[in-house]
Amino acid sequence: MKWSELFTSSVGKKFVMGLTGIFLILFLIVHVGLNACIWAMDEGKMFNLAANFMGSMVVPRILEIGLFAGFLLHIIQAYVLENQNRRKRGVTYQVPMGNNGSKWYSRYMGWLGTFVLLFLVIHIRQFWIPSRFLEMEEVTYNGVAVHNLFALMKDTFTNIWYVIVYLIGCLSLAYHLMHGFQSAFRSLGVYNSRYLALIKAVGVGFAIIVPLAFAMMPISMYLGWV
Ligand code: HEM
Repeated sequence: MKWSELFTSSVGKKFVMGLTGIFLILFLIVHVGLNACIWAMDEGKMFNLAANFMGSMVVPRILEIGLFAGFLLHIIQAYVLENQNRRKRGVTYQVPMGNNGSKWYSRYMGWLGTFVLLFLVIHIRQFWIPSRFLEMEEVTYNGVAVHNLFALMKDTFTNIWYVIVYLIGCLSLAYHLMHGFQSAFRSLGVYNSRYLALIKAVGVGFAIIVPLAFAMMPISMYLGWV
């Protein structure tokens, strides 16, 4: 396959979707792991230090640019593929084809992805923009002043509406991953049925555990557990 076909052929576009999907899955592992530091019961010290490390070092900052590019590519290719498929069928996806034995969430990947995107817009505005571009409350550990993202989180999640938006975002992410995890590997050419069975099982576990851990963060803060 030529490089240009990654963006012009259907197989190429699916390959890009799979590759960016796996990259975003890796990001989620790092993000959920770092955020889990809020449960260290140290008033956010471990979490603030870890978040500050990621925000101030060169390599994570470069990866961050790659991350936003990955999100953008994943979203653009998804809409291009969806439109292309619609035009080929000449009908909308769900109705006339019936469910074909597939799970509902695999037929609504576009909608689920759109909900995750809406969640992300709110999320980036709430945490990432203040941390990178605005004045933020700071806290000092061993003489080093860092952004107090823990306090911002606690403050945000005293508002029940934010908690609800986050729970909807996490639920959409869970169903998006339930199909997306294994689909990413298929798009990269994994056809062996034994590997696929394993990938499917890991994917279901991932789609439950990671969004559940994320969802427990606003809940823990709202209920004052941390
Ligand atoms: C639900 C609980 C979540 C909490 C409490 C949370 C918290 C945060 C915080 C505090 C930041 C800023 C970090 C910094 O500036 O150093 C951040 C950044 C970010 N979050 Fe989340 N997050 C959550 C879920 C998610 C989910 C589910 C996604 C993706 C689907 C996501 C995607 C991002 C992105 C793309 C950034 C900006 C890039 C970065 O800082 O690495 N977050 N999040």
